[in-house]
Amino acid sequence: METELSKKLGVEHAIFGFTPFPAVAAAITRAGGFGVLGAVRYTAPGDLARDLDWMQEHTDGKPYGLDVVMPARKVEGVTEADVEAMIPDGHRQFVRDTLAEHGVPELAEGEASGWRITGWMEDVARTQLDVAFDYPIRLLANALGSPPADVIRRAHDQGVLVAALAGSARHARHHADAGIDIVVAQGYEAGGHTGEIASMVLVPDVVDAVGPLPVLAAGGIGSGEQIAAGLALGAQGVWLGSIWLTTEEADLHSPALTRKLLAAGSGDTVRSRALTGKPARQLRTEWTDAWDDPSGPGALPMPLQGLLVAEALSRIQKYETGALLGTPVGQIVGRMTSERSVRAVFDDLTRGFERAVDRINRIAGRSAS
Ligand SMILES: Cc1cc2nc3c(=O)[nH]c(=O)nc-3n(C[C@H](O)[C@H](O)[C@H](O)COP(=O)(O)O)c2cc1C
Repeated sequence: METELSKKLGVEHAIFGFTPFPAVAAAITRAGGFGVLGAVRYTAPGDLARDLDWMQEHTDGKPYGLDVVMPARKVEGVTEADVEAMIPDGHRQFVRDTLAEHGVPELAEGEASGWRITGWMEDVARTQLDVAFDYPIRLLANALGSPPADVIRRAHDQGVLVAALAGSARHARHHADAGIDIVVAQGYEAGGHTGEIASMVLVPDVVDAVGPLPVLAAGGIGSGEQIAAGLALGAQGVWLGSIWLTTEEADLHSPALTRKLLAAGSGDTVRSRALTGKPARQLRTEWTDAWDDPSGPGALPMPLQGLLVAEALSRIQKYETGALLGTPVGQIVGRMTSERSVRAVFDDLTRGFERAVDRINRIAGRSAS
């Protein structure tokens, strides 16, 4: 599965895998794809350096990238404490009441919430970049708009390609104007923050809008047939996130959550502001229902909502409170039905791609490969 972009990056297959887990990212790269490590949860630079050291040792000299969540616009002089102070008491009470209703225990004394959202803030993302640029990353991706101009320049000076996620053609054109190298066209079906346009419509729109800039198709891809569809729509590769969550290498810290993902169908996700304040697709749970209920206080805007719920999510995860337990995941969750190694998932993807190409060749009256 070779495209101009896969050749440029020196990968065998134009399959890009986003994941918050170093072991998954490294395994994707070793399998012949391009692993991209999500950095948003790294608030201590030492932790990111430790995991990039590990990636370096476990990728056989093959290429990998890093994904940060850096807002395009910085609000000067605002600290995490300032943001905390903006959270209304009524919302804090709603969190307490919802957790109490489900009997979710408190964290132990001194036990820190594992899931801080401060990685959304530009200063934290910049610290992550200071660490990452000391490693031979080949790609820097940004989730929230184009990275600031100086970051794009710095990446280019080091020979690092810059990618940005886009949920509309307008958004993609903005990235192209900012000077990025790759647009990830991420449709409505995707896990995590999404826009309102489905991949089938979005990918060709983005290809038309920014071509010849390479586009990766993202959202709703979990089989080789879906990869073939993305490439047929004009993408130079595909970008998969959800499918890796139930791999053996993924470290979800919660067997109950893995079981929930394996049991979920494609209709069991919702695009909700419950997690971060911006619409993000995730498992539908009683937690998302509570925030989406018009009789409740409703989610706060980003980054307030993320700060408000960070500790609650840690508690729900730690005590595996079934009805509330969730994670960002896309509609492709319906295809995630068994826990397998990254290599097994990857081989399945490449085999399915070959099947799809053979099928289309037959339909087109050409001999199969
Ligand atoms: C658990 C999870 C966390 C995600 N976090 C991020 C993130 O931090 N940064 C980012 O650029 N995209 C993030 N995404 C979106 C992925 O990069 C990717 O675009 C998306 O998963 C593709 O659609 P799919 O889920 O249908 O494969 C996340 C997705 C999931 C499932």
